[in-house]
Amino acid sequence: DDRLRGRDFISIHDFTVEEIAYILEVGHGLKKMQKEGVEHHYLKGKTLGMIFQKSSTRTRVAFEVGMYQLGGHALFLSPRDIQLGRGETIKDTAKVLSRMVDGIMIRTFAHEEVLELAYYADVPVINGLTDLLHPTQIIGDLMTIQEHKGALKGLKCAFVGDGNNVAHSLLFGGAKVGMDVVIATPPGFEPNSEILAKAKEDARATGARLWVVNDPKEAVKDADIVYTDVWASMGQENEAEEKEKSFWPYQVNAELMSLAAKGAIVLHCLPAKRGKEITDEVMDGPQSVVFDQAENRLHAHKAIMAVIM
Ligand code: CP
Ligand code: NVA
Repeated sequence: DDRLRGRDFISIHDFTVEEIAYILEVGHGLKKMQKEGVEHHYLKGKTLGMIFQKSSTRTRVAFEVGMYQLGGHALFLSPRDIQLGRGETIKDTAKVLSRMVDGIMIRTFAHEEVLELAYYADVPVINGLTDLLHPTQIIGDLMTIQEHKGALKGLKCAFVGDGNNVAHSLLFGGAKVGMDVVIATPPGFEPNSEILAKAKEDARATGARLWVVNDPKEAVKDADIVYTDVWASMGQENEAEEKEKSFWPYQVNAELMSLAAKGAIVLHCLPAKRGKEITDEVMDGPQSVVFDQAENRLHAHKAIMAVIM
């Protein structure tokens, strides 16, 4: 239906509890259709322009393949090739693309660039990751948890790692679906306090508990989901070595997993640095659902595009 048509997808915080539930439902529906070979050309003849200022495997392939499966077409716009990389403004890029495409996805560094693009664009804008947020990731993750745990409400999800983009969107996601989220980070790497405060406000509607600790064991104790991410995010390559020193106690390994609830699942948004934030044993072990999670980016992105475009 048309309830979300024309909306931007920039943060999970911008959507109501019902709207997030609806996007998840559409995602599961589209996944079923794709698995059964049922044609679902809901975006026939539509195009998505995709601006990537950072690398991507999953996000790019999910949007590109997803758009094709929806009957549309996606264009990969690398900063090396488009004029944005030579200094054309976001504003002018937004205005020009809006005359030609039906939606714009952008992955970039500063979150403000996405907001600026959305301000000037006349077509829906999708945030494909910024330094602050990674909302499309969390839609796929919530689908994955639903598939493996049957529900979301009342579960405990422990995120162990850096309190940045993925952790921020996970807090917003948990708040909207009633899933408890605890973030365990080294001192100094806690989530942005404004984001946490906003997420807590959202959580009042669903009863989700959201909190931050520095002790990974305390966080993982009795958790139904253990989630981790790289220690050095894109753009932090120079800090990687220095950061690593603080993050070793936060490695998701068999010992840490032994504290989680029975039947707990392990998530990682990927790409992973195996042997750093997660061991091979855990990533390839029976509790890991990381490749289901990666696949669900496809279905989640299709849902997002289908409802807003
Ligand atoms: N998880 C994720 O966004 O992966 P990519 O960086 O490969 O898109
Ligand atoms: N935090 C990571 C997520 C990658 C999908 C990064 O920003 O690089």
